[in-house]
Amino acid sequence: MDKAENTVDKKVYIETYGCQMNVNDSEVMLSILQDAGYTRTEDIGVADVILVNTCSIRDNAEQRIWGRLEQFRLQKKKRDNVIIGITGCMAERLKDRLLDSHIVDLVAGPDSYRTLPQMLEAASSGHPQINVLLSHEETYADITPVRMDRNGVSAFISIMRGCNNVCSYCVVPYTRGAERSRDPKTILKEAENLVAMGYKEVCLLGQNVDSYYWKDPETADNDMNFARLLESVAQISPDLRVRFSTSHPKDISDEVIYTMAMYDNICRHIHLPVQSGSNVMLEKMRRKYTREWYLERVKKIRSVIPDCGITTDVIAGFCGETEQDHRDTLSLMEAVGFDSAFMFQYSERPGTLAARKFADDIPDEVKTRRLNEIIALQNRLSLASNEKEIGRTHRVLVEGVSKRSPDELFGRASNNKVCVFPAEGHVTGEYVDVTVTSCTSATLISRLKR
Ligand code: SAH
Ligand code: SF4
Ligand code: F3S
Repeated sequence: MDKAENTVDKKVYIETYGCQMNVNDSEVMLSILQDAGYTRTEDIGVADVILVNTCSIRDNAEQRIWGRLEQFRLQKKKRDNVIIGITGCMAERLKDRLLDSHIVDLVAGPDSYRTLPQMLEAASSGHPQINVLLSHEETYADITPVRMDRNGVSAFISIMRGCNNVCSYCVVPYTRGAERSRDPKTILKEAENLVAMGYKEVCLLGQNVDSYYWKDPETADNDMNFARLLESVAQISPDLRVRFSTSHPKDISDEVIYTMAMYDNICRHIHLPVQSGSNVMLEKMRRKYTREWYLERVKKIRSVIPDCGITTDVIAGFCGETEQDHRDTLSLMEAVGFDSAFMFQYSERPGTLAARKFADDIPDEVKTRRLNEIIALQNRLSLASNEKEIGRTHRVLVEGVSKRSPDELFGRASNNKVCVFPAEGHVTGEYVDVTVTSCTSATLISRLKR
């Protein structure tokens, strides 16, 4: 059937929670639905279909979504024929239990999005739909995501899906399934198309990008690891910046670090989640590296790329964490001097190894206190790191108008730090050289370089 005949003339509203990969998945869903004749709306009040692309990483992420579902129930009261669908990680984790709420008409796991048009059609004739099959092959390689960002400057490209690591606290391997890498030819084509559309930056996404591996069906010489992929994307255009996330400390290779150093357009930033500074905790978390290994990787990165931004994720109050374990986390953070961090309290996720093997035994008030200490330390480290930037010059890719003032722009330096500076005729999508004049713990206040 050609597209014109296939037009369903319905409006879809998509709300996205969770990580960058979920954001990119929403773009994949929109692409599939547009091909089936749907158009996107940002007005929930006129939507025929409401899709919520969900996250299960911590309990509070799920609680927020349950809260939102209450609001969708109101939409359904007003307009009986509106279809409500849950997609993404919560759909995969809770499966048919989501249908029991009677708010939801459709439950679609992360590997089922190609079937959305058929599922929506069936759901609209009153039959609740569920597809939570996980796949070993699906990478949506041939689907061109419909970009939902507004700036037209920076886009995500998923290079792999799933995760094989089974860190004991983490729900992702259960909600996203086994790791699989995407055909590099389709990744490069997507990046080239983005350049042709005027995009200036791509971020290559995977739960563990360092384990990206593509076996060429014809010759092993053409096998592609992450370093080679990164290099191939960087070679598309010197005007295209390349970022990537997430690197796993156990897997980040010297080859990746040297490749970054070789190309000016590979951004000098590595997000390297440490989770804990205690070897006892790292072992229980099944992270498969030690504090010493982590510190060695940081040393290596800094010896090859001295100006590399290093950011991290930290979990406070994992099972059995002692005050000494907690102090080990603080001392590691101090030893590295992270440029910024995402910091969380441990949240037990049903079905994970930790939930089955270890008691979630750190009282909430202790978790909160430790998290607050971690946050206070990171604020100090972020400020110290930013203060070192004063007087330095950075090439910034302009991403938009600053929230502070319509006369100011913002963009990120190669090391991922956000710079704010006077527009003076510059526009979104340009590269601009700025000099840092002052800072907060979150922003580099800058002026145009003269
Ligand atoms: N693949 C990435 C992380 C994905 S999840 C990696 O391995 O680094 C993003 C972050 O959420 C994790 O780095 C971790 O810090 C946090 N996280 C994951 N599960 C969690 C849990 N059960 N409780 C609290 N934080 C968690
Ligand atoms: Fe979760 Fe670990 Fe996989 Fe990251 S590497 S997604 S933390 S299991
Ligand atoms: Fe959340 Fe799933 Fe991403 S659990 S963090 S949306 S992979």
